[in-house]
Amino acid sequence: MIAAVLKSTGMIQDLESNLLIEDVPVPELSGDEILVKVNSASLNHRDIWIAQGMYSKIKLPVILGSDCSGTVESVTDDIHEFKPGDDVIINPGLDWGNNQDFQSRDFSILGMPDNGTFAEFVKIRRTNVFRKPAHLTFEQAASVPLAGVTAFRALFRKLKITDKDKLLITGTGGGVSSFALMFALKAGAEVYVTSGDDRKIDKALSLGVKAGVNYNDPSWHEKIKSLSGNSLNTVFDSSGGDTYSKCMEIINPGGRIVSIGAGLGSVKEFSIHKLYWKQLKVYGSAMGSDKDFSDMLDFINVNLIVPEVNMLVNLNEIQKGFQLMHETSRFGKIVVKVN
Ligand SMILES: NC(=O)c1ccc[n+]([C@@H]2O[C@H](COP(=O)([O-])OP(=O)(O)OC[C@H]3O[C@@H](n4cnc5c(N)ncnc54)[C@H](OP(=O)(O)O)[C@@H]3O)[C@@H](O)[C@H]2O)c1
Repeated sequence: MIAAVLKSTGMIQDLESNLLIEDVPVPELSGDEILVKVNSASLNHRDIWIAQGMYSKIKLPVILGSDCSGTVESVTDDIHEFKPGDDVIINPGLDWGNNQDFQSRDFSILGMPDNGTFAEFVKIRRTNVFRKPAHLTFEQAASVPLAGVTAFRALFRKLKITDKDKLLITGTGGGVSSFALMFALKAGAEVYVTSGDDRKIDKALSLGVKAGVNYNDPSWHEKIKSLSGNSLNTVFDSSGGDTYSKCMEIINPGGRIVSIGAGLGSVKEFSIHKLYWKQLKVYGSAMGSDKDFSDMLDFINVNLIVPEVNMLVNLNEIQKGFQLMHETSRFGKIVVKVN
């Protein structure tokens, strides 16, 4: 089968020599595994961190890719719930364990260390295979798994967002943030956003957010606070750094903040004073449990949510997809067309 194999890590510009399209053996099944013929996969920032060597415990060579949609190619004799030809998507969270509050020590993500979805076939345990939402194309469905479950857990398990909340999403254009935006709007929350690109703010406004401000404006936090009528009570943040400090500054007393990433690095000024005086609740959230994944799919199916696919690239030009991920001029996910 054809696969994109990461041989070594380095600068994104070096991908042509580090990420190679190769013919590799089709994975062999055992136990309760299913072989999925990948139709579409999608890129996550995780793939970029790994390709750059900025991720812990990198194992090489490896086929990256956590997300995919496809059809069941074959199953072992132990499996009766799925048959060849079924349209499916994959939950990339492996070995979450039984505790809904946090993942087990064995938890890992499909696409390093285990070979992932940037290939014609991927093998995966039955418990990680789900029916593809019928209202989505393969390309749309492939963009859901990792970003969708991360946004879903952070919003609904941690922030417990409702139609009473006024939510700020910092940096709305990325994969996870674009899901957070769609989910929060469906939940009825009043949503505010920041972005580094005014066109993305316009896009978010067209989807139903109340207002947005470009985060390159040094006073973005004061502007967003004022636009919300000084009443932001929830924040979904994937940037960390100075953005997080400013969110602590503008959120109302009793507010809740969830962090899912730190693209801008660690928070340099975490105000303990604001934490206790405003009686804030701060959460961290990572990926999601098997139950979160299944609940997210129910939410997508019931509300007929259609993810934002920004761009399609073919598997044999996947390096281009990585480069486009590195730029910030897109809204939503980059999908890799495989079959
Ligand atoms: N906790 C978890 O389980 C988990 C899961 C997935 C991802 N993550 C992390 O979450 C982050 C986003 O992942 P992704 O896959 O969605 O990546 P992505 O698609 O590349 O998105 C990058 C995001 O960063 C935002 N951003 C860039 N500069 C910013 C700034 N100065 N202030 C505020 N926001 C800024 C962008 O906003 P604009 O495009 O609007 O400018 C965009 O939303 C990454 O750090 C990733 O490692 C964590």
